[in-house]
Amino acid sequence: MAKDFARLEDSNRSLNRSFHEVSDPARRILLRGGLGALAAGTLAPLAGCASLGGSSGGKAAVSALLGFKGVPVSTADTITVPEGYVADVIAAWGEPVGLSGEMPAFKWDASNSAAEQAAQLGMHHDGIHFYAQSETTGLLVMNHEYTDDGLLHRDGMKTWTAEKVRKAQAAHGVSVIEVELKDGRWQQVLPSPWARRFTASTPMAVSGPAAGHALLKTAADPSGRKVLGTLNNCASGKTPWGTYLTCEENFINYFQGPDKPDAHQKRWGLKKVDDKMYRWHEHDERFDAVKHPNEANRFGWVVEIDPFNPSSTPVKRTALGRAAHEGATVATTADGRAVVYMGEDARFEYIYKFVSRDRIRPGGARANADLLDHGTLYVARFDADGSGQWIALTHGQGPLTAANGFADQGEVLVKSRQASDLLGGTKMDRPEWIAVDKAGWVYCTLTNNSNRAGDKQPGTDAANPRANNTMGHIIRWKEPGDFADLRFQWNHFVLAGDASNERSDAKGNIKGDAFGCPDGLWTDARGVLWIQTDMSTSAMGKADLKGLGHNAMLAADPATGEIRRFLVGPAGCEITGATRTPDGRTMFINIQHPGESPSERSDPEAATKISNWPHHRAGGRPRSATVVIRRKDGGVIGA
Ligand code: FEO
Ligand code: CA
Ligand code: CA
Repeated sequence: MAKDFARLEDSNRSLNRSFHEVSDPARRILLRGGLGALAAGTLAPLAGCASLGGSSGGKAAVSALLGFKGVPVSTADTITVPEGYVADVIAAWGEPVGLSGEMPAFKWDASNSAAEQAAQLGMHHDGIHFYAQSETTGLLVMNHEYTDDGLLHRDGMKTWTAEKVRKAQAAHGVSVIEVELKDGRWQQVLPSPWARRFTASTPMAVSGPAAGHALLKTAADPSGRKVLGTLNNCASGKTPWGTYLTCEENFINYFQGPDKPDAHQKRWGLKKVDDKMYRWHEHDERFDAVKHPNEANRFGWVVEIDPFNPSSTPVKRTALGRAAHEGATVATTADGRAVVYMGEDARFEYIYKFVSRDRIRPGGARANADLLDHGTLYVARFDADGSGQWIALTHGQGPLTAANGFADQGEVLVKSRQASDLLGGTKMDRPEWIAVDKAGWVYCTLTNNSNRAGDKQPGTDAANPRANNTMGHIIRWKEPGDFADLRFQWNHFVLAGDASNERSDAKGNIKGDAFGCPDGLWTDARGVLWIQTDMSTSAMGKADLKGLGHNAMLAADPATGEIRRFLVGPAGCEITGATRTPDGRTMFINIQHPGESPSERSDPEAATKISNWPHHRAGGRPRSATVVIRRKDGGVIGA
């Protein structure tokens, strides 16, 4: 979760058949069943399923796609994988990324300096993609979402200094590391000419309609085109032209707001923060929005990185809109245009897609350097009859006029939330990752929303059907002919839950193993839909989540709806990010924030109180890390 403190595999598959051509009978039944059930106020399981599942695996349709034996719920401080599988750890927080001549060792008491942290892997690993150079070598590019400053500094936040702020900023962002399969184990290549760190202070360019806009200009950057850094990098996407899309999620929490925020600031949640937040503004006035009100407008973008060009500058692509971006998943239309699906993870926010004006060109990143700068951004509206509409965020169309506060397209994009409010997009239960399956269904995790139908809050609707939605759900839709189409049909793939719960809205309709709070979502080349959970550490093990143990990764068969638990993580972590080698025999995932306390800030005097994963070293610290999953027999993961 990209903490609010309160709170594909590249999917470049062409969809050139019609909805009905690709929909098998079971799916059409599913669609009708789902809609009929909604109209009747009940929730139907997927067609063809045998029964609802309990917390350790219920009866379900037998999937030919899922070949492993599921694992039970666990509260052990370790990684649990199925029989016949092994899980190794690489690239933990604080390991050197591999910059030549700059490879500071991790210090177990967290006494590395800010400069050293800038040459090491950041904290709180999140979205990740593998860029193969061969079956046994490649680059891993991954996000570092946020920091636990209780673990990051030797004495936590007992004192608060400019050096600590610089170290926290250096622990954010993105890492590029080179890995190879050597002597039977994947390991980092050190040093590597590909190694890079992007932090909260790395120079980045801005492109697209909002580049140079008055709303992006600051005293330090009167051009409005040069931003320092990227923040709260949550999920990520891989483009068909070989680049990495990193997404800026809860950026607003880094800024100190005024006593009385204006309407724009209020809509984005800017407020006066207390000492429980990041406290960057105390030593870096760029994050004081009272002094620099436009700086926050320079975050919340999708940032494109070319991992194969070590001298390249990351680019903030404003044509994709500004949001608390969870992720960016790329599909390709039949005529070769890019479609980027994006969720905004905040309660009652929106699902977006961007359709490029131009076709993807052969020639990789350089040939497509401006592809994401030209196109149309849309917000999703899910109608009660099971259809839906993509509505354009285009200046001059409908309510998006100067009279309504939008001077131009740049302002529409900076104020995507306000534009979507006027356009009537559907306010969702925290849209997280998006994945596309082989049949062209597009899936989005809606992780939870305990405010749904609460006092003075929006009520339930067809797409978000449960009040006090503690468990989350996965919605899916299909455009009838191509990803660029503006109409779609939708249904619920699954309502997460635990059938053993007493509260009916917390039971869910899972055919298989129970889970709650879906977040990470990814389809592999075989068509398995991998679901990763993020029950918050303040809610884990309690109330509706009491029977679910630690956060987990499950595998789903999109055709049968069967869901089977594949992996359970250590204490206090979330599971996030998934990618694999082209041969399917190695999967990489990330374990984020092992040992996190309910306050999301650890006590440095008791750093291992909750978890000491992965190294279980006396006097050490729990560390986010990448987990390498393989089969002992060398087979394909999940098969
Ligand atoms: Fe960063 Fe929405 O999880
Ligand atoms: Ca989450
Ligand atoms: Ca997430």
